[in-house]
Amino acid sequence: TGLVTLDGGFGNTAAYKSAITFLDGEKGILRYRGYPIEQLAERGSFLETAYLLINGELPTVDQLSGFRDDITQHTLLHEDVKRFYDGFPRDAHPMAMLSSVVSALSTFYQDSHNPFDEKQVHLSTIRLLAKLPTIAAYAYKKAIGHPFVYPRNDLGYVENFLRMTFAVPAEEYEINPVVVSALDKLLILHADHEQNCSTSTVRLVGSSQANLFASISAGISALWGPLHGGANQAVLEMLESIQAQGGDVDSFVNKVKNKEDGVKLMGFGHRVYKSFDPRAKIIKAAAHDVLSALGKSDELLDIALKLEERALSDDYFTERKLYPNVDFYTGLIYRAMGFPTTMFTVLFALGRLPGWIAHWTEMIREPGSRIGRPRQIYTGVEIRDYVPVEER
Ligand code: CMC
Repeated sequence: TGLVTLDGGFGNTAAYKSAITFLDGEKGILRYRGYPIEQLAERGSFLETAYLLINGELPTVDQLSGFRDDITQHTLLHEDVKRFYDGFPRDAHPMAMLSSVVSALSTFYQDSHNPFDEKQVHLSTIRLLAKLPTIAAYAYKKAIGHPFVYPRNDLGYVENFLRMTFAVPAEEYEINPVVVSALDKLLILHADHEQNCSTSTVRLVGSSQANLFASISAGISALWGPLHGGANQAVLEMLESIQAQGGDVDSFVNKVKNKEDGVKLMGFGHRVYKSFDPRAKIIKAAAHDVLSALGKSDELLDIALKLEERALSDDYFTERKLYPNVDFYTGLIYRAMGFPTTMFTVLFALGRLPGWIAHWTEMIREPGSRIGRPRQIYTGVEIRDYVPVEER
């Protein structure tokens, strides 16, 4: 195996060429298809960002309205899909429900299995974008024991999701525009991040020519872990535990520095960003804005601010170039919006979906694309002879 080099965690291995997202970790730059993330978050919408990532260009007015119409026609889940939720225990984690139900979609759309059938891939793309908010909202309803709220197709993408999540049948539900625009912005900021763990998973599964639903379901599973998308839930749990200890930020930071029980400062650090995470900058400002617009104060925000300040003035963090990442402040916003902690990573998944689809599609269309198959350096016993069980 002389030709094989070991690169744990793929820290220095590029497996693909990609024209989707540019990321400069030293300078803190993130661009989707050349557009700075700041401009898209400030002036764009999630649906046009999704269109951009998947198709390569921002849509015209007509293209966007066609895209939106296509999506709204597919928001319903088949009534049989709904029955999956009956089988889950009510304390099931919504991420587990999300990946299971997405995987199950490939049993309902069996004509979607050929990754080279462009018409079917387009239809699967629309179905996924349309149905993931419904699947996510149903997971929440299942957890709280409320009846499902069906999608309403006169509403926008985010409005519809919020209504399916928070409305109760037969009661008025008023959609708060502050929440809509903040969530839309957060979805944009999560929409792609080049070859992260979940996206690489989607590509790896897709490289075997598994269908889009199966590949996305695997991506959702990869996202769930606390070192990846699950960090937003872990950050809030960390803040709550610091609060329960009387808000003692110093002793928590010391625990992290001493690596006691493997405790990490969740929401800090990034494989690629070594100066700052441009998404975190926008989200920190949004956390202030949303909380004050909703008239909510949150002691956890004060703890987070103190924790950030404390960490950024400590050699442990500066020497290792650990800065707040996208997950550090998002949970506080989601909490102010009324989402329970277990739904946070689901919101990340809703945002990341167009990125996953864009990467899967780019890979499938790449001429000469090969199955993903990393090598290894074998460290086991070289050779030995079989001994019958009674002689061992
Ligand atoms: N708290 C304390 N120490 C840390 C942290 C942290 N959050 N992150 C890294 N370190 C230390 C790590 O222990 C190592 O120290 P040493 O050199 O003494 O062994 C050094 O910094 C280098 O870290 P690493 O583990 O080699 O870094 P990595 O690139 O493999 O991991 C990471 C990146 C994001 C998984 C890691 O920083 C981490 O676990 N952060 C906390 C979880 C988190 O916030 N994840 C969200 C990432 S951003 C969004 C997303 O991808 O979903």
